[in-house]
Amino acid sequence: MRVFAKYERVAIAVFSLSVLFHSQVVSAAFTIPLRSKKGMVVSAHPLASEAGISMLRKGGNAVDAAVATTFAISVVEPFSAGIGGGGFLLMHSEKTGEMKALDFRERAPLNATKNMYLDAQGKVRPNASVNGYLAVATPGTVAGMYEVHRRYGKLPWREVVQPAIALAKNGFTLSRLVTYRSLPAFENRKQVILSNPAAREIFTRNGEYYQPGEKLVQRDLAKTLEAIAQNPQSFYTGNIAQAIAADMAKNGGLITLADLKAYKPIWRTPICSNFRQAKICSMPPPSSGGVHLLQILNIIGDTDLKSWGWHHPNGLHLMAEAMKIAYADRSQYLGDPDFVKVPVQQLISTAYAKKRRQQINMKVAQPSTEVKPGLETIPNPKSKIQNPKFYESPETSHLTVVDEQHNAISLTFTINLGFGAGVVTPGIGIVLNNEMDDFAAAPGVPNAFGLVGNEANAIAPRKTPLSSMTPTIVTENNRLRMAVGSPGGSTIITQVLQVILNVLEYGMDAGAAVSASRIHHQWLPDELRVEPWGLDAITLQNLRDRGHNIKEATPWGNANAIVVTADNTLEGAADPRGEGSPIGF
Ligand code: GLY
Repeated sequence: MRVFAKYERVAIAVFSLSVLFHSQVVSAAFTIPLRSKKGMVVSAHPLASEAGISMLRKGGNAVDAAVATTFAISVVEPFSAGIGGGGFLLMHSEKTGEMKALDFRERAPLNATKNMYLDAQGKVRPNASVNGYLAVATPGTVAGMYEVHRRYGKLPWREVVQPAIALAKNGFTLSRLVTYRSLPAFENRKQVILSNPAAREIFTRNGEYYQPGEKLVQRDLAKTLEAIAQNPQSFYTGNIAQAIAADMAKNGGLITLADLKAYKPIWRTPICSNFRQAKICSMPPPSSGGVHLLQILNIIGDTDLKSWGWHHPNGLHLMAEAMKIAYADRSQYLGDPDFVKVPVQQLISTAYAKKRRQQINMKVAQPSTEVKPGLETIPNPKSKIQNPKFYESPETSHLTVVDEQHNAISLTFTINLGFGAGVVTPGIGIVLNNEMDDFAAAPGVPNAFGLVGNEANAIAPRKTPLSSMTPTIVTENNRLRMAVGSPGGSTIITQVLQVILNVLEYGMDAGAAVSASRIHHQWLPDELRVEPWGLDAITLQNLRDRGHNIKEATPWGNANAIVVTADNTLEGAADPRGEGSPIGF
């Protein structure tokens, strides 16, 4: 019903906007945001948003709602994110203005080695870090959820896990959108999934992927969640841990009981920077998201994008050039800060941004081969960088929660690529991640997202692979202004950037901000990705004339956001590219 309600809202939006702005046809596809006063949850699935809002209705806070939504997403989007993976959350307290960041991302197993994906000739073995048991890193979602709930939750732990248990046990109907969105990833990973009996059982009917309208019941996962509701440590030291370790040992995986026992989520200091009158806070390393979001905003600096107008070629060109610089730096300097020194303050300093801004020629796109990592104190890469290809997949999930006091949670989590490693632990129902692919298997060799890395992101035991996840919270005068995030692999950073600019710079409401077409450049490959029908022909030609190599691409991550309006109302929207929904209270 709620899905239909959402489509109705979109249809009304299409009608009213096309009547009001018939000359601006592009506006007609913008979703209408939901407004509410008491609290709101926006996630990638209506049933997960419902799980979260039910916690707020019971008197729970933003943490309770976020934890319930996270567990529910693990059930209703098992191909994109879940308890077999990890993630990051950012948390804002409206009372104190404090911002906290929790890293519950996967860690490399204790037996992982720097060259574990190389063959005898030193070449990266294709797909070794993507498919099967060797691709799995130690999952962190359960520990992360328990840690944040233990400290800041209000309702009993059991109660926040309950909606997910019910969804797994009773099943839910697979929608058309979810089925079709996940189908290309299924087709891509089909052989791996079919070769793992437990994965085959969850994701197929006798080897065929589900049709829209079919019911997905996950009995093993329901039992696992029941055990977690009773004792979250069962995942790390109890029966669940034993099942994971035994299956790993049987199939050449690296994760042992020692890995699971040693897993700890880490509280980190969020990184923040000012943009106009707002303070933008985001995830620090081991995510690259916050660093490069702030870096790009700093490079834009006080350039008055608004006076050019939304999607003016000058604005798009400036953004694309800034993106290239950021991703060039990412390839060289970013990694797990517990293992390497990441020059965060230098990268997000306004002085460095100013220097990089001066290197941008507003008339001509600089070829990526000429854009280099730019800090003087650190040598530039010597590695030979290969030309990467994009992997397109509906991986990862973002959720945003704001409670009545305007405490906010922005949380992004993942099992990496769609269907993770294609491995499900028998009897346990957990889809395991392939997050090891987010390490640089070798310097300059692209991962599945086409991202290249170097020594900073080399594999080491217990190290965290570099991420692009960018859960972000914006405040003004210490009061919540907006919370936002997105899935989308390497495109996460630039997608979050554009949703923020749409609100803060262009004055869009939350619905328009998450709907509007987006661009992406990640330095390598040297192409400016645009959405089909995202830019008009004149704008595209203008960008081509400046030297941009335009590539139309799909799919894009389904972002979501909650914005606080001038009259203190919560305004939330889920991206029409997905089937998520805002639910208010
Ligand atoms: N696995 C994608 C990311 O963390 O960026």
